[in-house]
Amino acid sequence: MSESPVKMLTDALAADIMSGRLAPGTPLPTHRKLAARYGMAIASASKAYAHLQSMGLVIGEPGRGTFVRDRPQQREWDNDDEARLNAHVTDLSFNHPTWDGQADLLRTMLRDLATSGDLASLMHQQPPGGRRHEREIVAQFLARQRGVRVEADRVFLVGGTQQGLDIVTRALLEPHDSVAVDALSYPGFKMIADAHRLTLRPVRSLSLSDGPDFDALDALCRRHRIRAIYTMPTLHNPLGWVLSAEQRRRLVEIARTHDCLLIEDAAYAYLAGKAPSALVTMAPERTVYVSSLSKSLASGLRFGFVVVPEAYAGRLKAAIRASYWSLSGIVTTMAMRWMDDGTVARQETFLRRDARHRQAIARRVFTGMDLTAHPSSMFLWLELPNDLRMDRIATALAKRGIAVSKARAYATTKHAPHALRIGLSSVTVDRLESVLMDVRATIEQFPI
Ligand SMILES: Cc1ncc(COP(=O)(O)O)c(C=O)c1O
Repeated sequence: MSESPVKMLTDALAADIMSGRLAPGTPLPTHRKLAARYGMAIASASKAYAHLQSMGLVIGEPGRGTFVRDRPQQREWDNDDEARLNAHVTDLSFNHPTWDGQADLLRTMLRDLATSGDLASLMHQQPPGGRRHEREIVAQFLARQRGVRVEADRVFLVGGTQQGLDIVTRALLEPHDSVAVDALSYPGFKMIADAHRLTLRPVRSLSLSDGPDFDALDALCRRHRIRAIYTMPTLHNPLGWVLSAEQRRRLVEIARTHDCLLIEDAAYAYLAGKAPSALVTMAPERTVYVSSLSKSLASGLRFGFVVVPEAYAGRLKAAIRASYWSLSGIVTTMAMRWMDDGTVARQETFLRRDARHRQAIARRVFTGMDLTAHPSSMFLWLELPNDLRMDRIATALAKRGIAVSKARAYATTKHAPHALRIGLSSVTVDRLESVLMDVRATIEQFPI
């Protein structure tokens, strides 16, 4: 049977977009012009645009037309073989929260900025770590939104959590220092440890959802001089756990007994909603807290913040001065306004609900499989059944156009479990169920 004209047109436009022949931002013909060009009904042209929109390749902006969408170019900086097997990738390996209204929010902000008073000040060099009033706005935001009460002079502005972790490592740790990490932990911290030649010492978990085995951590601290403990107490990546108040007390007690710095990564913490106190408020003298607006407002904004113990503020400032000096004034000003006027708060509420909805879909699709996740997290951990190998399943998924993360990237031990981390936020919610069903079918039908 020959393909329908709508499908042929959709595929032709998709190929042009995927290959870059149609660059991001290119305005596409109106529905009427497209229909006339291909000799088809306007409704058919509209259908083709609707398909492209649901594939995430174009975006229709009311009153302005249809544009080629700028997609996260993950594949460009990823040299994973599987990723190259298929250009039409549905990317479940990263979480880039995108939501309707992101473009309008930026457009409105840029218009407001253009007409605001002292615009030239944004062209001036900013002090390392941010201007006093900006650090104050972040401190107030942390108190309101994260329940973290800290003095503004302990707050430093950074270009995202990753840069925050890097600058903290630079400022406060030495090469060959030992850092305790969970046996499954955030891959970005493994990269930082590698770059700074830290020695990572893994701590096993009691079970996938229960958090670290603190007796094992204590024993580790007795055997080795552990300088720091890198931890995600509130919504762990990749397992989604939220440590209880009791577990946090134990963690702080171990850190105090063995004089360890606590590096608290709160990149996803806002998703958990109500959680026990942050470590930075329990042990302010030894906790560094790092977070950003990447997972709630926009991953491309590159805006984050670090809170350090008072005694380390000078060292952090010196490290910032030696590297990026300060953030861009424009980015900082936009982030300040969005934190101050409630935009970030509204967005966080919306995304918590959205993540819950997506988790519910995932739980339905993966019923009966070995899944670990927080109910309002943007990702889940899927242990593979019957000794299926993660590499082979990831390759099979890539052939079907789906990219996922393999457990190996998260493992800090030699042997990684055969598991996948599946991100739920990068596809539109109406496509999520069918993409996840494809994942399930690929696993169940393997090796067919
Ligand atoms: C646990 C964790 N920390 C840090 C980061 C980096 O976030 P940012 O975009 O704020 O640099 C991520 C991103 O995925 C993350 O999952």
